[in-house]
Amino acid sequence: MKILVATEKPFATAAVNGIKKAAEAGGHEVVLLEKYTDKAQLLDAVKDADAIIVRSDKITKEVLDAAPKLKIVVRAGAGYDSIDTAYAKEKGVVVENTPGQNSNAVAELVFGLLVYTVRNFFNGKSGSELKGKKLGILAFGNVGRNVARIAKGFDMDVYAFDEFVPSDKIEAQGVHAVKSRDDLFKTCDIVSLHIPATDETRKSINYEVAGLMKKGGIIINTARKEVIDEDGLLKLLAEREDMKYITDIMPDKDSDFRQFVGRYFSTPKKMGAQTAEANINAGIAAANQINAFFKDGCTKFQVNK
Ligand code: 3PG
Repeated sequence: MKILVATEKPFATAAVNGIKKAAEAGGHEVVLLEKYTDKAQLLDAVKDADAIIVRSDKITKEVLDAAPKLKIVVRAGAGYDSIDTAYAKEKGVVVENTPGQNSNAVAELVFGLLVYTVRNFFNGKSGSELKGKKLGILAFGNVGRNVARIAKGFDMDVYAFDEFVPSDKIEAQGVHAVKSRDDLFKTCDIVSLHIPATDETRKSINYEVAGLMKKGGIIINTARKEVIDEDGLLKLLAEREDMKYITDIMPDKDSDFRQFVGRYFSTPKKMGAQTAEANINAGIAAANQINAFFKDGCTKFQVNK
């Protein structure tokens, strides 16, 4: 079978080599489409693909229609909002992700960004420490749990809310479970977002919710830009000179956010999963899942059942 690795943001070389080795061991051929700049390149590359491995690459109706032989798409990563999963299902194409494989990388970046922020973006002025601060984790999945683990090393006071995870499971990790998302924002000095982009979460972090934070509140987003109501947050930052917004996913209105010098920072390109380790883990997991799918029909990680 032909496996296309289509990554606008390429994997580390070691990960590509690992994917090839794993796929070839399964009897498959790997074709690479890296750093493509035009949708037409993707449409052309999928023509004869039986399987595709992607990152945040957009697998739309148009892409799926251009791939008549396609049987499986594996998103080497967690979030699959960039894939038209419903249309894939209609066409009988299995969509999978590789949960947990890149979550440590994202969690480590949270702390890289947080230290940078509380030390005033290294401008030489006296900043503050994370020790003793209340950290709120919104969604306690693979990334959220890694964030909690690292936060404890910083001696932070850790809180979490996840509507799908029972409180006792959160508390079992030594984390305070709060009753609602709003309580998390009210309680914590810093809130770290780990919710996926879905119909329910889109624009859910709005003026009212973010405005619940106490003086000096920091919101850090390594999840998705879509969960932010950008107009609402811009209004809040204009009114609340004490608040900061730090993100790994550049907002559509980045140029408006930039007026808040010293209170806003965005990485130029999403960096959360940009480590060799995360690329290797997620990439090889994707290749192995494709092997299992073609060998035994295994669909353990299917997200469009
Ligand atoms: C994910 O959903 O796995 C992360 O956001 C990483 O995405 P990326 O592979 O596009 O960097």
